[in-house]
Amino acid sequence: MPTDAIVLAAGAGERLGGAVPKAFALLAGEPLVVRAVRAVAAGGVDRIVVVVSPDRVAEVADLLGALEGLSLSIVAGGTSRVESTRLGLASLRGDPADVVIVHDAARPLARRATFRAAIEAVLAGADGASPTLPALDTIAFVTGDRITEVPTRSRLVRVQTPQAFRRDVLMSAHEAAAAAGDVSATDDGGLVLRYLPDARIVPVAGDERNLKITTPLDLELATRLLAQFEDEVEVSGEVVGRSSRRSSSGT
Ligand code: CTP
Ligand code: MG
Repeated sequence: MPTDAIVLAAGAGERLGGAVPKAFALLAGEPLVVRAVRAVAAGGVDRIVVVVSPDRVAEVADLLGALEGLSLSIVAGGTSRVESTRLGLASLRGDPADVVIVHDAARPLARRATFRAAIEAVLAGADGASPTLPALDTIAFVTGDRITEVPTRSRLVRVQTPQAFRRDVLMSAHEAAAAAGDVSATDDGGLVLRYLPDARIVPVAGDERNLKITTPLDLELATRLLAQFEDEVEVSGEVVGRSSRRSSSGT
């Protein structure tokens, strides 16, 4: 079944704090947005919409021009992640696919298996699917100057992108959020559940190496992870051996 993908790259990257917006930060010499789009393409989608800040559309078109053989469009995003997803979705006119992937450009190391797991779960009947990993830290609610609640850690997971959705479900949730003027959700699975509480969003296997680049330390860690990836020989998504070649990237 055809699959469309939205790559969100319109954020400022305030916490990364670099000279350029986060999507343009270099990971082993290459902008995060380029790596993320390549990761999405390898995930087996048919069309990709890249959402960038309005003043960067031409620049991103140039950067991605080199990725041949992709059905790619670049559209202007909004001032929140929610608006950027909505604008990406709205641009999927013509003959939109039934399944839509939403992926953050801030996760340039996502691998094919994660995309496939999310897409397969929707094809198998879920309304949406999010990669998850167990929570490692204990998480607490803080109200004012007090810790007021510590939810049971074994019930908590960390949620990643790429997430996959039935297109009609994602559209309805975004329409409801727009009508309510609500731009606060930090992921689309959460947005869907807020407006369609009966939606069945299922967890699929997350990937520890699918790091989200938020701070300068994450960029450093990602550089090391990438060097490790490049040193592995992957066959059908399974690591079967190591090459003797050592990567020179990421120095
Ligand atoms: N994003 C977006 N449009 C926005 C805000 C965020 O497309 N208005 C995207 C980012 O580009 C990123 C993803 O949503 O790929 C996740 O957001 P986050 O990690 O918070 O990135 P930034 O908003 O860029 O970072 P910060 O919050 O530190 O400014
Ligand atoms: Mg942000």
